[in-house]
Amino acid sequence: MCLGTNGLNRKGKVIIMKIIVTGGAGFIGGNFVHYMLKAHPEYRIICLDCLTYAGNMETLAPVMDNPNFRFCKVDITDREAVFNVFEEEHPDIVVNFAAESHVDRSIENPGVFLNTNIIGTQVMMDACRKYGIQRYHQVSTDEVYGDLPLDRPDLFFTEETPIHTSSPYSASKASADLLVQAYHRTFGLPVTISRCSNNYGPYHFPEKLIPLMIANALNDKPLPVYGKGENVRDWLYVEDHCRAIDLIIHKGTVGEVYNIGGHNEMKNIDIVKIICKALDKPESLITYVADRKGHDMRYAIDPTKIHNELGWLPETKFADGIQKTIRWYLDNREWWEHIINGEYQDYYARMYGNR
Ligand code: NAD
Ligand code: TYD
Repeated sequence: MCLGTNGLNRKGKVIIMKIIVTGGAGFIGGNFVHYMLKAHPEYRIICLDCLTYAGNMETLAPVMDNPNFRFCKVDITDREAVFNVFEEEHPDIVVNFAAESHVDRSIENPGVFLNTNIIGTQVMMDACRKYGIQRYHQVSTDEVYGDLPLDRPDLFFTEETPIHTSSPYSASKASADLLVQAYHRTFGLPVTISRCSNNYGPYHFPEKLIPLMIANALNDKPLPVYGKGENVRDWLYVEDHCRAIDLIIHKGTVGEVYNIGGHNEMKNIDIVKIICKALDKPESLITYVADRKGHDMRYAIDPTKIHNELGWLPETKFADGIQKTIRWYLDNREWWEHIINGEYQDYYARMYGNR
């Protein structure tokens, strides 16, 4: 099923680039669709998303009437459906965001991660081989590098850091990265890969740390911190990530990997305390719960390569980004209340019930 226009822009403008964005009904993909339609009014964006629990048409509602946008409800593992879209659109660029993305769910049920994250990547690249493409971009994660110890703040992930995964999620993403590199070397597919640190911002599904804590705090529910809350993540405002990908697909070197992150390391517990303070909620809501299995201690990106080669630097400081994000969740209660009042309740009971 596809919604939206299937031809030239209604205003008669010439479309100079067609980009397929997979996973555009999710958090980062959705932000990327919004970003690209604004940054490049002469581009046509075709979103492929099968709307898993994490896909949300409310995220795309503001762009559904945009004549340069088309939504196709397609599973990226469905070869025939994917090839049909390529046959109709002949895209210039593909940006593959579609994935199962939550570590806790990958511990509960790894199979679907292998299917979407690895086989889905293969199907997308096979379509690119058949129909020809200027660029296939794989959106990967810093989690493929494993983790860093807390007592070595001098260490960072570079693009040369060996792959060393911890969770079924990160293993599936690393497998996909290897497949992307193999398609470049074996078939000459013009690929790039980006490995980003933790994102935050609008439209973030409330199973992830920051939106979960905001939603729970607003509902005066316990704030479940895993272990001692000392794990460190390197946070990046989602718009900075979108801008980095925009640069890579236009100016990045084919065959290269780019790390994206901006020296914004924070302990989980400190983030939860910031959220309590911003919402004027008591820290007594914080509840320490059983740790995640195989929990990575610290992620930290060295962004030197993307800075030197493409001039990218993050623009949003964590102190500002977190306040903007909290404001967005206050102003868009309906968006996340629809989620937490739906089937998400079963997941929450399963994941946190006996923790
Ligand atoms: P998300 O879970 O919010 O969204 C994933 C989207 O993909 C959803 O819209 C879902 O419906 C869609 N999808 C899932 N399986 C699909 C399939 N088989 N076919 C078509 N669509 C499918 O994820 P996100 O947080 O936006 O992450 C997007 C990408 O960025 C992922 O590849 C993830 O690994 C990567 N990444 C995320 C982060 C982060 O902090 N969220 C950091 C680094 C990298
Ligand atoms: P998450 O948002 O799931 O991202 P990732 O595991 O991919 O980094 O989790 C971020 C950190 O927050 C991670 O160290 C696990 C922790 N965490 C909690 O302490 N409580 C929670 O309820 C969740 C979802 C995460």
